[in-house]
Amino acid sequence: MMELKGKSAVVTGAGSGIGRELALACAREGMDVLLADIDAAGLRDTRAAIEVRGVRVESMLCDVSKPHEVEALADRAWERFGAVHLLFNNAGVGVAGPAWTATLEDWEWTLGINLMGVVHGVRSFVPRMLAQGGEGHVVNTASVAGLVDIAGSAVYCVSKHGVVALSECLHHDLRVAKASIGVSVLCPAYVNTGIGDSARHRPAELAATNPLAAPYDAAVREALRSGRLTAADVARVTLDGVKAGRFYILTHEKIKPAIEARMRDILEDRSPTDVSRPVPGAGKLKGTQT
Ligand SMILES: NC(=O)c1ccc[n+]([C@@H]2O[C@H](COP(=O)([O-])OP(=O)(O)OC[C@H]3O[C@@H](n4cnc5c(N)ncnc54)[C@H](O)[C@@H]3O)[C@@H](O)[C@H]2O)c1
Repeated sequence: MMELKGKSAVVTGAGSGIGRELALACAREGMDVLLADIDAAGLRDTRAAIEVRGVRVESMLCDVSKPHEVEALADRAWERFGAVHLLFNNAGVGVAGPAWTATLEDWEWTLGINLMGVVHGVRSFVPRMLAQGGEGHVVNTASVAGLVDIAGSAVYCVSKHGVVALSECLHHDLRVAKASIGVSVLCPAYVNTGIGDSARHRPAELAATNPLAAPYDAAVREALRSGRLTAADVARVTLDGVKAGRFYILTHEKIKPAIEARMRDILEDRSPTDVSRPVPGAGKLKGTQT
């Protein structure tokens, strides 16, 4: 178990939702925190909530889809704190709609942040964490959507399955290297955060969205509203998981039957079980051509 007090953490996507609560939870543990996001106002609010706790807090605008910006984030972390013990590759966005009408912009935007953002975090931070020596830990935020597959979520599921695979391989690689850096992959189900409004920061050049997204977006928003755990609950479970050295951090126990169904589908040579919620209006769109 890693002692967190007096250590330092970096959190991407710290301007809202789960990232903000992860940063606050780290500060409560007595950690110094570097906050990263593309949302300046969100960063200011998270920073203000942490400053009153008497730990060192820094914030930096950083688009995780840009490798040089993540590298600059790592530079800042080592300049300011001299070490990074806990890295949260957490920034993420959501898109919805059938696989065959997902736009190239949906793919580029979502994979650029959800998957390549984590890749950039691993590439910029892990070599320096190895070089600094001692204990460290990397938490990559995936999702239940990285463990099961849901209708209307091809782009998001691909990005999150990628994060699970990357995290599992990173864990293996670090064990082979006999490094004392742990890895966790965080897989929450629905939590009521800003994720349903991800397009608020979508760049104009990647604005073209899935033309059949609307009923799926509405269903996701409804599911997010009905989420029983808060972002603060997720952060608490995550830090407990880090302290306990847990790899898979599944915050919602009730999703386990869906994961088991997928595993059984594979092992018993069955077609995938549909574990998605009904999406009102989506069936009507099946034949729609755009
Ligand atoms: N909310 C859920 O139900 C849920 C479930 C499973 C997984 N997740 C994952 O949790 C993570 C956090 O999402 P959230 O639910 O807190 O949503 P959120 O929208 O509240 O927070 C995401 C944050 O990421 C930031 N961000 C977006 N693009 C960025 C970029 N290019 N670079 C840096 N920061 C960027 C946003 O500005 C925002 O502050 C995401 O990876 C998401 O996929 C969320």
